[in-house]
Amino acid sequence: MLNSLRTQVGIIGAGPAGLVLSHLLYLHGIDSVVVENRSRQYVEERVRAGVLEQGTADLLVEMGVGERMKREGLLHSGIELRFGGRGHRIDFQDLTGGKGITIYAQHEVLKDLNNARAATGGQVYFEVEDVSVHDIDRPRPKVRYRKDGNSHELDCDFIAGCDGFHGICRPSIPSAVLTEYERVYPFGWLGILAEAPPSSHELIYTYHDRGFALLSMRTPRISRLYLQCKPDEDIAQWSDQKIWQELQLRLAADGWKLTEGLVLQKGVTGMRSFVVEPMQYGRLFLAGDSAHIVPPTGAKGLNLAVADVQILARSLKRFYDTGRRDLLDSYSEVCLRRVWKVQRFSWWMTSMLHRFPDENSFDQRRQLAELDYVTGSRAAATTLAENYVGLPME
Ligand code: FAD
Ligand code: PHB
Repeated sequence: MLNSLRTQVGIIGAGPAGLVLSHLLYLHGIDSVVVENRSRQYVEERVRAGVLEQGTADLLVEMGVGERMKREGLLHSGIELRFGGRGHRIDFQDLTGGKGITIYAQHEVLKDLNNARAATGGQVYFEVEDVSVHDIDRPRPKVRYRKDGNSHELDCDFIAGCDGFHGICRPSIPSAVLTEYERVYPFGWLGILAEAPPSSHELIYTYHDRGFALLSMRTPRISRLYLQCKPDEDIAQWSDQKIWQELQLRLAADGWKLTEGLVLQKGVTGMRSFVVEPMQYGRLFLAGDSAHIVPPTGAKGLNLAVADVQILARSLKRFYDTGRRDLLDSYSEVCLRRVWKVQRFSWWMTSMLHRFPDENSFDQRRQLAELDYVTGSRAAATTLAENYVGLPME
Protein backbone atom coordinates (compact mmCIF):
# COMPACT_ATOMS: atom_id res chain seq x y z
CA MET A 1 0.00 0.00 0.00
CA LEU A 2 1.19 3.53 -0.80
CA ASN A 3 0.84 6.06 2.03
CA SER A 4 0.40 9.61 0.75
CA LEU A 5 1.54 12.66 2.65
CA ARG A 6 1.32 16.32 1.71
CA THR A 7 3.76 19.09 2.61
CA GLN A 8 4.97 22.39 1.19
CA VAL A 9 8.70 21.58 1.09
CA GLY A 10 10.10 18.03 0.98
CA ILE A 11 13.65 17.98 2.34
CA ILE A 12 16.04 15.11 1.62
CA GLY A 13 18.82 14.70 4.20
CA ALA A 14 19.02 15.60 7.91
CA GLY A 15 22.53 17.08 7.87
CA PRO A 16 23.20 20.75 8.65
CA ALA A 17 21.57 21.94 5.40
CA GLY A 18 18.37 19.90 5.80
CA LEU A 19 17.80 20.56 9.50
CA VAL A 20 18.61 24.28 9.41
CA LEU A 21 16.30 24.66 6.41
CA SER A 22 13.48 22.74 8.06
CA HIS A 23 13.68 24.84 11.25
CA LEU A 24 13.99 28.15 9.36
CA LEU A 25 10.89 27.22 7.33
CA TYR A 26 9.02 26.38 10.54
CA LEU A 27 9.93 29.83 11.90
CA HIS A 28 8.55 31.33 8.66
CA GLY A 29 5.31 29.33 9.02
CA ILE A 30 6.12 26.98 6.11
CA ASP A 31 5.49 23.25 6.46
CA SER A 32 8.24 20.74 5.63
CA VAL A 33 9.04 17.04 5.97
CA VAL A 34 12.63 15.76 6.23
CA VAL A 35 13.59 12.23 5.15
CA GLU A 36 17.01 10.83 6.14
CA ASN A 37 18.37 7.38 5.37
CA ARG A 38 20.60 7.07 8.48
CA SER A 39 19.47 6.75 12.10
CA ARG A 40 19.20 9.79 14.35
CA GLN A 41 21.94 8.35 16.56
CA TYR A 42 24.30 7.90 13.60
CA VAL A 43 23.77 11.47 12.41
CA GLU A 44 24.25 12.84 15.94
CA GLU A 45 27.53 10.95 16.47
CA ARG A 46 29.23 11.41 13.08
CA VAL A 47 32.43 13.44 13.70
CA ARG A 48 32.91 16.12 11.04
CA ALA A 49 33.41 19.87 11.06
CA GLY A 50 33.90 22.02 14.15
CA VAL A 51 34.30 25.68 13.17
CA LEU A 52 31.27 27.99 12.97
CA GLU A 53 31.61 31.32 11.21
CA GLN A 54 30.34 34.39 13.06
CA GLY A 55 27.24 34.48 10.84
CA THR A 56 26.47 30.77 11.34
CA ALA A 57 26.69 31.08 15.13
CA ASP A 58 24.56 34.26 15.06
CA LEU A 59 21.94 32.52 12.92
CA LEU A 60 21.69 29.55 15.31
CA VAL A 61 21.09 32.00 18.18
CA GLU A 62 18.46 33.92 16.16
CA MET A 63 16.73 30.62 15.38
CA GLY A 64 16.53 29.82 19.10
CA VAL A 65 18.86 26.81 18.87
CA GLY A 66 22.02 28.49 20.15
CA GLU A 67 21.64 28.17 23.93
CA ARG A 68 23.94 25.16 24.43
CA MET A 69 26.38 26.48 21.82
CA LYS A 70 26.63 29.75 23.76
CA ARG A 71 27.31 27.78 26.97
CA GLU A 72 29.64 25.09 25.66
CA GLY A 73 31.11 26.53 22.44
CA LEU A 74 34.57 28.09 22.51
CA LEU A 75 34.83 31.63 21.17
CA HIS A 76 38.03 32.29 19.24
CA SER A 77 39.17 35.68 18.03
CA GLY A 78 42.09 34.50 15.89
CA ILE A 79 44.18 31.62 14.55
CA GLU A 80 47.88 30.90 14.38
CA LEU A 81 49.82 30.23 11.17
CA ARG A 82 53.02 28.33 12.00
CA PHE A 83 55.98 27.93 9.64
CA GLY A 84 59.74 27.78 10.01
CA GLY A 85 59.07 26.63 13.59
CA ARG A 86 57.49 29.97 14.56
CA GLY A 87 53.91 31.00 15.18
CA HIS A 88 52.22 34.12 13.75
CA ARG A 89 48.78 35.16 14.98
CA ILE A 90 46.03 36.41 12.69
CA ASP A 91 43.87 38.57 14.93
CA PHE A 92 40.32 38.27 13.53
CA GLN A 93 38.78 40.58 16.09
CA ASP A 94 41.13 43.42 15.27
CA LEU A 95 41.09 42.84 11.49
CA THR A 96 37.33 42.37 11.03
CA GLY A 97 35.88 44.88 13.47
CA GLY A 98 35.11 42.45 16.28
CA LYS A 99 34.17 39.22 14.52
CA GLY A 100 35.33 35.74 15.45
CA ILE A 101 34.53 32.03 15.19
CA THR A 102 32.91 29.49 17.52
CA ILE A 103 34.32 26.01 18.04
CA TYR A 104 31.34 23.71 18.41
CA ALA A 105 31.11 20.29 16.76
CA GLN A 106 28.80 19.77 13.77
CA HIS A 107 27.12 16.80 15.49
CA GLU A 108 26.34 18.97 18.52
CA VAL A 109 24.67 21.49 16.19
CA LEU A 110 22.65 18.59 14.75
CA LYS A 111 21.57 17.41 18.23
CA ASP A 112 20.35 20.92 19.05
CA LEU A 113 18.46 21.17 15.75
CA ASN A 114 16.89 17.71 16.12
CA ASN A 115 15.74 18.62 19.64
CA ALA A 116 14.28 21.90 18.39
CA ARG A 117 12.48 20.13 15.50
CA ALA A 118 11.09 17.50 17.89
CA ALA A 119 9.94 20.15 20.41
CA THR A 120 8.06 22.10 17.73
CA GLY A 121 6.32 19.16 16.07
CA GLY A 122 8.79 18.92 13.18
CA GLN A 123 8.44 15.90 10.91
CA VAL A 124 11.89 14.34 10.52
CA TYR A 125 11.87 10.69 9.44
CA PHE A 126 15.09 8.75 10.00
CA GLU A 127 16.09 5.35 8.59
CA VAL A 128 14.06 5.67 5.40
CA GLU A 129 15.09 3.61 2.34
CA ASP A 130 14.99 3.86 -1.45
CA VAL A 131 14.44 7.63 -1.58
CA SER A 132 13.66 8.96 -5.06
CA VAL A 133 12.33 12.23 -6.52
CA HIS A 134 9.72 12.52 -9.31
CA ASP A 135 8.10 15.21 -11.46
CA ILE A 136 10.76 17.73 -10.41
CA ASP A 137 10.04 19.86 -13.48
CA ARG A 138 6.28 19.89 -12.82
CA PRO A 139 4.12 21.92 -10.39
CA ARG A 140 3.72 19.09 -7.81
CA PRO A 141 6.99 17.18 -7.40
CA LYS A 142 7.02 13.99 -5.30
CA VAL A 143 9.43 12.25 -2.97
CA ARG A 144 9.00 8.48 -2.66
CA TYR A 145 10.62 6.35 0.02
CA ARG A 146 10.17 3.22 2.10
CA LYS A 147 10.04 3.09 5.87
CA ASP A 148 9.54 -0.03 8.01
CA GLY A 149 8.63 -1.95 4.87
CA ASN A 150 5.89 0.49 3.78
CA SER A 151 5.98 2.72 0.69
CA HIS A 152 5.34 6.44 1.09
CA GLU A 153 4.80 9.31 -1.31
CA LEU A 154 5.33 12.90 -0.27
CA ASP A 155 3.43 15.37 -2.42
CA CYS A 156 5.29 18.73 -2.34
CA ASP A 157 5.40 22.22 -3.83
CA PHE A 158 9.21 22.17 -3.78
CA ILE A 159 12.00 19.71 -2.99
CA ALA A 160 15.27 20.64 -1.27
CA GLY A 161 18.17 18.31 -2.09
CA CYS A 162 20.18 18.47 1.15
CA ASP A 163 21.48 14.91 0.80
CA GLY A 164 25.22 15.52 0.63
CA PHE A 165 27.76 14.69 -2.05
CA HIS A 166 26.66 11.05 -2.50
CA GLY A 167 22.92 11.74 -2.40
CA ILE A 168 20.30 11.04 -5.05
CA CYS A 169 19.12 14.59 -5.81
CA ARG A 170 21.98 15.86 -7.97
CA PRO A 171 21.92 12.70 -10.18
CA SER A 172 18.14 13.14 -10.58
CA ILE A 173 18.68 16.30 -12.63
CA PRO A 174 19.18 15.57 -16.36
CA SER A 175 22.96 15.55 -16.84
CA ALA A 176 22.72 17.74 -19.97
CA VAL A 177 21.51 20.59 -17.75
CA LEU A 178 24.44 20.43 -15.34
CA THR A 179 28.07 21.51 -15.56
CA GLU A 180 30.50 20.11 -13.00
CA TYR A 181 33.73 21.79 -11.95
CA GLU A 182 36.19 19.70 -10.00
CA ARG A 183 39.70 19.52 -8.60
CA VAL A 184 40.89 16.49 -6.67
CA TYR A 185 43.97 17.11 -4.49
CA PRO A 186 46.88 14.66 -4.41
CA PHE A 187 46.67 14.30 -0.61
CA GLY A 188 44.23 13.70 2.23
CA TRP A 189 43.96 14.44 5.94
CA LEU A 190 44.49 11.88 8.67
CA GLY A 191 42.39 13.15 11.57
CA ILE A 192 42.23 12.12 15.21
CA LEU A 193 40.02 13.01 18.13
CA ALA A 194 42.01 12.72 21.36
CA GLU A 195 41.38 12.93 25.07
CA ALA A 196 43.97 15.63 25.61
CA PRO A 197 43.59 19.25 26.64
CA PRO A 198 44.24 21.40 23.53
CA SER A 199 47.87 22.54 23.56
CA SER A 200 46.87 25.96 22.25
CA HIS A 201 43.98 28.26 23.01
CA GLU A 202 43.45 28.83 19.26
CA LEU A 203 43.74 26.72 16.09
CA ILE A 204 47.24 26.26 14.64
CA TYR A 205 47.66 25.75 10.87
CA THR A 206 51.20 24.53 10.19
CA TYR A 207 53.26 24.46 7.03
CA HIS A 208 56.14 21.98 7.43
CA ASP A 209 58.64 20.21 5.17
CA ARG A 210 57.00 16.91 6.17
CA GLY A 211 53.54 18.22 5.25
CA PHE A 212 50.65 20.21 6.68
CA ALA A 213 49.36 19.73 10.23
CA LEU A 214 46.45 21.32 12.09
CA LEU A 215 45.75 21.57 15.78
CA SER A 216 42.08 22.08 16.57
CA MET A 217 39.83 21.15 19.45
CA ARG A 218 36.28 20.36 20.49
CA THR A 219 36.20 21.12 24.22
CA PRO A 220 38.71 22.14 26.91
CA ARG A 221 39.48 18.42 27.30
CA ILE A 222 39.27 17.11 23.72
CA SER A 223 41.74 17.89 20.92
CA ARG A 224 41.15 17.39 17.20
CA LEU A 225 44.32 17.08 15.13
CA TYR A 226 45.05 16.49 11.46
CA LEU A 227 48.08 15.49 9.36
CA GLN A 228 48.48 15.76 5.60
CA CYS A 229 48.75 12.19 4.25
CA LYS A 230 48.41 10.27 0.98
CA PRO A 231 44.87 10.43 -0.44
CA ASP A 232 44.54 6.64 -0.12
CA GLU A 233 46.48 6.37 3.16
CA ASP A 234 45.87 3.09 4.98
CA ILE A 235 44.92 4.11 8.50
CA ALA A 236 45.92 0.62 9.73
CA GLN A 237 49.56 1.61 9.07
CA TRP A 238 49.28 4.44 11.59
CA SER A 239 49.58 3.39 15.23
CA ASP A 240 48.58 6.02 17.78
CA GLN A 241 52.25 6.36 18.70
CA LYS A 242 53.26 7.02 15.08
CA ILE A 243 50.52 9.66 14.72
CA TRP A 244 51.67 11.52 17.84
CA GLN A 245 55.32 11.31 16.71
CA GLU A 246 54.46 12.86 13.35
CA LEU A 247 52.31 15.57 14.96
CA GLN A 248 55.16 16.38 17.35
CA LEU A 249 57.57 16.81 14.42
CA ARG A 250 55.30 18.96 12.27
CA LEU A 251 53.89 21.17 15.01
CA ALA A 252 57.20 21.68 16.86
CA ALA A 253 58.04 25.25 17.89
CA ASP A 254 60.41 26.78 20.40
CA GLY A 255 59.09 26.77 23.94
CA TRP A 256 55.87 24.98 22.95
CA LYS A 257 54.72 21.48 23.82
CA LEU A 258 52.05 19.26 22.27
CA THR A 259 50.13 17.38 24.95
CA GLU A 260 49.32 13.80 23.96
CA GLY A 261 46.42 11.66 25.13
CA LEU A 262 44.19 8.70 24.39
CA VAL A 263 43.14 8.55 20.71
CA LEU A 264 39.33 8.23 20.70
CA GLN A 265 38.80 8.09 16.95
CA LYS A 266 40.84 8.26 13.75
CA GLY A 267 40.16 8.39 10.02
CA VAL A 268 41.34 9.58 6.60
CA THR A 269 39.42 12.15 4.51
CA GLY A 270 40.08 12.81 0.81
CA MET A 271 40.24 16.40 -0.40
CA ARG A 272 38.41 17.86 -3.36
CA SER A 273 36.89 21.07 -4.68
CA PHE A 274 33.64 20.53 -6.54
CA VAL A 275 30.80 22.73 -7.81
CA VAL A 276 27.75 21.91 -9.89
CA GLU A 277 25.94 24.62 -11.84
CA PRO A 278 23.11 25.45 -11.72
CA MET A 279 21.98 24.53 -8.20
CA GLN A 280 18.32 24.30 -9.21
CA TYR A 281 16.22 22.52 -11.78
CA GLY A 282 12.47 22.97 -11.97
CA ARG A 283 11.23 22.66 -8.39
CA LEU A 284 14.33 20.88 -7.05
CA PHE A 285 16.87 23.04 -5.22
CA LEU A 286 20.30 21.67 -4.25
CA ALA A 287 21.89 22.97 -1.04
CA GLY A 288 25.14 22.19 0.80
CA ASP A 289 27.41 19.28 -0.12
CA SER A 290 24.94 17.99 -2.73
CA ALA A 291 25.96 20.99 -4.85
CA HIS A 292 29.53 21.69 -3.76
CA ILE A 293 32.48 20.34 -1.79
CA VAL A 294 35.42 22.32 -0.42
CA PRO A 295 38.70 20.99 0.97
CA PRO A 296 38.52 21.37 4.78
CA THR A 297 41.49 23.78 5.05
CA GLY A 298 39.24 26.84 5.20
CA ALA A 299 36.71 25.17 7.60
CA LYS A 300 33.90 26.14 5.25
CA GLY A 301 31.80 23.04 4.35
CA LEU A 302 29.20 23.33 7.09
CA ASN A 303 29.09 27.13 6.91
CA LEU A 304 28.49 27.13 3.17
CA ALA A 305 25.67 24.61 3.56
CA VAL A 306 24.03 26.92 6.11
CA ALA A 307 24.45 29.96 3.84
CA ASP A 308 22.69 28.13 0.96
CA VAL A 309 19.65 27.24 3.03
CA GLN A 310 19.38 30.74 4.47
CA ILE A 311 19.03 31.97 0.88
CA LEU A 312 16.58 29.17 0.04
CA ALA A 313 14.43 29.80 3.12
CA ARG A 314 14.26 33.52 2.31
CA SER A 315 13.27 32.75 -1.28
CA LEU A 316 10.55 30.30 -0.23
CA LYS A 317 9.19 32.78 2.31
CA ARG A 318 8.87 35.44 -0.40
CA PHE A 319 7.04 32.93 -2.61
CA TYR A 320 4.55 31.90 0.08
CA ASP A 321 4.05 35.48 1.33
CA THR A 322 3.60 37.15 -2.06
CA GLY A 323 3.42 34.52 -4.81
CA ARG A 324 6.54 36.05 -6.36
CA ARG A 325 9.11 33.64 -7.78
CA ASP A 326 11.91 36.16 -8.38
CA LEU A 327 14.07 35.06 -5.43
CA LEU A 328 13.47 31.38 -6.17
CA ASP A 329 14.46 31.94 -9.78
CA SER A 330 17.72 33.64 -8.76
CA TYR A 331 18.54 31.10 -5.99
CA SER A 332 21.34 29.37 -7.90
CA GLU A 333 22.91 32.60 -9.13
CA VAL A 334 22.91 34.20 -5.67
CA CYS A 335 24.31 31.05 -3.97
CA LEU A 336 27.00 30.50 -6.60
CA ARG A 337 28.49 33.96 -6.12
CA ARG A 338 29.24 33.03 -2.51
CA VAL A 339 30.12 29.42 -3.36
CA TRP A 340 32.86 30.46 -5.78
CA LYS A 341 34.37 32.96 -3.35
CA VAL A 342 34.46 30.27 -0.69
CA GLN A 343 35.92 27.80 -3.22
CA ARG A 344 38.65 30.30 -4.00
CA PHE A 345 39.47 30.81 -0.32
CA SER A 346 39.50 27.07 0.48
CA TRP A 347 41.71 26.35 -2.56
CA TRP A 348 44.05 29.21 -1.61
CA MET A 349 44.45 28.06 2.02
CA THR A 350 44.99 24.49 0.77
CA SER A 351 47.57 25.55 -1.83
CA MET A 352 49.47 27.73 0.62
CA LEU A 353 49.73 25.17 3.42
CA HIS A 354 50.25 21.72 1.83
CA ARG A 355 53.22 20.02 0.19
CA PHE A 356 52.41 18.96 -3.39
CA PRO A 357 53.99 15.80 -4.88
CA ASP A 358 54.89 17.58 -8.15
CA GLU A 359 56.24 20.77 -6.56
CA ASN A 360 59.80 22.03 -6.97
CA SER A 361 61.99 24.23 -4.80
CA PHE A 362 60.54 27.36 -6.46
CA ASP A 363 57.03 26.39 -5.32
CA GLN A 364 58.23 25.87 -1.76
CA ARG A 365 59.94 29.26 -1.62
CA ARG A 366 56.79 30.85 -3.07
CA GLN A 367 54.60 29.22 -0.39
CA LEU A 368 56.92 30.50 2.35
CA ALA A 369 56.87 33.99 0.82
CA GLU A 370 53.09 33.86 0.75
CA LEU A 371 52.94 32.90 4.44
CA ASP A 372 55.46 35.62 5.25
CA TYR A 373 53.35 38.15 3.34
CA VAL A 374 50.02 37.06 4.88
CA THR A 375 51.42 37.27 8.40
CA GLY A 376 53.40 40.44 7.75
CA SER A 377 50.97 42.63 5.84
CA ARG A 378 47.82 43.97 7.49
CA ALA A 379 46.08 44.10 4.09
CA ALA A 380 46.88 40.43 3.35
CA ALA A 381 45.99 39.30 6.88
CA THR A 382 42.66 41.11 6.55
CA THR A 383 41.72 39.14 3.43
CA LEU A 384 42.37 35.90 5.29
CA ALA A 385 40.49 37.09 8.38
CA GLU A 386 37.37 38.36 6.59
CA ASN A 387 37.05 35.13 4.63
CA TYR A 388 37.70 32.91 7.65
CA VAL A 389 35.10 34.56 9.91
CA GLY A 390 32.67 34.44 6.96
CA LEU A 391 31.83 36.83 4.14
CA PRO A 392 28.68 38.90 4.69
CA MET A 393 25.41 37.51 3.29
CA GLU A 394 24.16 39.38 0.23
P1 FAD B 1 25.70 16.26 4.96
O1 FAD B 1 26.17 16.66 6.31
O2 FAD B 1 26.50 15.25 4.21
O3 FAD B 1 24.21 15.74 5.13
C1 FAD B 1 23.53 15.03 4.14
C2 FAD B 1 22.57 14.07 4.81
O4 FAD B 1 21.82 13.42 3.80
C3 FAD B 1 23.29 12.99 5.58
O5 FAD B 1 22.77 12.90 6.88
C4 FAD B 1 23.05 11.73 4.76
O6 FAD B 1 22.98 10.57 5.57
C5 FAD B 1 21.73 12.06 4.10
N1 FAD B 1 21.50 11.33 2.84
C6 FAD B 1 22.38 11.01 1.87
N2 FAD B 1 21.79 10.36 0.88
C7 FAD B 1 20.47 10.25 1.22
C8 FAD B 1 19.36 9.66 0.60
N3 FAD B 1 19.46 9.05 -0.57
N4 FAD B 1 18.16 9.74 1.23
C9 FAD B 1 18.05 10.35 2.42
N5 FAD B 1 19.09 10.93 3.06
C10 FAD B 1 20.28 10.88 2.46
N6 FAD B 1 33.99 20.38 6.94
C11 FAD B 1 34.75 21.19 7.62
O7 FAD B 1 34.58 22.40 7.50
N7 FAD B 1 35.69 20.69 8.50
C12 FAD B 1 35.88 19.35 8.66
O8 FAD B 1 36.71 18.93 9.45
C13 FAD B 1 35.12 18.48 7.92
N8 FAD B 1 35.27 17.15 8.05
C14 FAD B 1 34.52 16.33 7.26
C15 FAD B 1 34.72 14.95 7.34
C16 FAD B 1 33.98 14.08 6.52
C17 FAD B 1 34.22 12.59 6.60
C18 FAD B 1 33.03 14.63 5.63
C19 FAD B 1 32.22 13.71 4.73
C20 FAD B 1 32.83 16.00 5.58
C21 FAD B 1 33.57 16.86 6.39
N9 FAD B 1 33.39 18.25 6.33
C22 FAD B 1 34.15 19.05 7.06
C23 FAD B 1 32.40 18.87 5.51
C24 FAD B 1 31.13 19.22 6.28
O9 FAD B 1 30.91 18.29 7.31
C25 FAD B 1 30.01 19.23 5.26
O10 FAD B 1 30.28 20.27 4.35
C26 FAD B 1 28.63 19.40 5.86
O11 FAD B 1 28.26 18.25 6.56
C27 FAD B 1 27.61 19.68 4.74
O12 FAD B 1 26.32 19.57 5.23
P2 FAD B 1 25.15 19.01 4.32
O13 FAD B 1 23.94 19.07 5.17
O14 FAD B 1 25.16 19.68 3.03
O15 FAD B 1 25.55 17.51 4.00
C1 PHB C 1 38.09 20.84 12.91
O1 PHB C 1 38.18 21.26 14.09
O2 PHB C 1 37.63 19.74 12.65
C2 PHB C 1 38.62 21.68 11.81
C3 PHB C 1 39.07 22.95 12.08
C4 PHB C 1 39.56 23.73 11.06
C5 PHB C 1 39.59 23.23 9.78
C6 PHB C 1 39.12 21.97 9.51
C7 PHB C 1 38.64 21.18 10.53
O3 PHB C 1 40.09 24.00 8.78
